[in-house]
Amino acid sequence: MAPGTPGATAPTLQLDEVTKRYGGVTAVAGVSFDLEPGQRMAVIGPNGAGKTTLFKIIAGDVRPTTGSVHIFGEDVTTVPAFRRARTGLGRTFQVSNLLAELSVLDNVRVAAQAGTPASRRFWRPQRPDDDVTTSSLEILAKVGLEARASHTVADLSHGEQRQLEIAMALVRRPTLLLLDEPAAGLSAAERVVLRELLEGLPRELSMLLIEHDMSLALELTDRVLCMDNGRPVILGTPQEIRADRTVREIYLGRSVA
Ligand SMILES: Nc1ncnc2c1ncn2[C@@H]1O[C@H](COP(=O)(O)OP(=O)(O)OP(=O)(O)O)[C@@H](O)[C@H]1O
Ligand SMILES: [Mg+2]
Repeated sequence: MAPGTPGATAPTLQLDEVTKRYGGVTAVAGVSFDLEPGQRMAVIGPNGAGKTTLFKIIAGDVRPTTGSVHIFGEDVTTVPAFRRARTGLGRTFQVSNLLAELSVLDNVRVAAQAGTPASRRFWRPQRPDDDVTTSSLEILAKVGLEARASHTVADLSHGEQRQLEIAMALVRRPTLLLLDEPAAGLSAAERVVLRELLEGLPRELSMLLIEHDMSLALELTDRVLCMDNGRPVILGTPQEIRADRTVREIYLGRSVA
């Protein structure tokens, strides 16, 4: 479907010839793809390939130099990040955005209230039986952190902090979830927990995952875009990516799962 055709059948996400230049550096060079409802897609590529820049363009942190981004058929190319949450876009928060002095539960409650009319007032603790607390506890149970609800963020392991970031993105009930390297810095055991958590997310949730861990990226998704030097190299199924000679050459010296 042509970008800009709104309606229930519009793809979740459409990128059309997205390019981002920083002076003489072309960080992203002509990337186009559609993400259909419920699809899970990974973006892989070596350091400097343009993955994070692409993610920032989709999230609204960075405007593309040329090209367009549509979410559910709506042109959001110039819509700032804080407005994109309303379109159903969820993203993981950086660890630094976790509020270290607050409890795990309160972090999720703050995320739940962000963008609601209540967030325009200063955030304050509410009654423990309110709707926000109930839904926050449900999400914490989903990501396996229910028992940690009353602990402070500082008590959490690195892996648990990543689980909390995912809970904070999920509590706003997104239809598209963006994850930038959720496994970065995790131990092997923590990766297993993360993989199970992501595998267990509702199938109707569309997902875009940037990941250096090839095996994780290829096992969790239906489609994979490999980038190199800003350019899209191949967009295919995990099987096609595993078999692709160019991908192997790009990753020469690295382990291709
Ligand atoms: N704000 C910026 N100003 C100038 N150049 C930038 C900026 N952001 C990114 N770049 C350049 O754009 C290119 C792509 O960077 P990007 O961070 O998107 O790559 P990446 O694939 O996420 O890499 P990594 O795997 O290391 O995270 C790099 O050459 C980078 O130096
Ligand atoms: Mg990056």
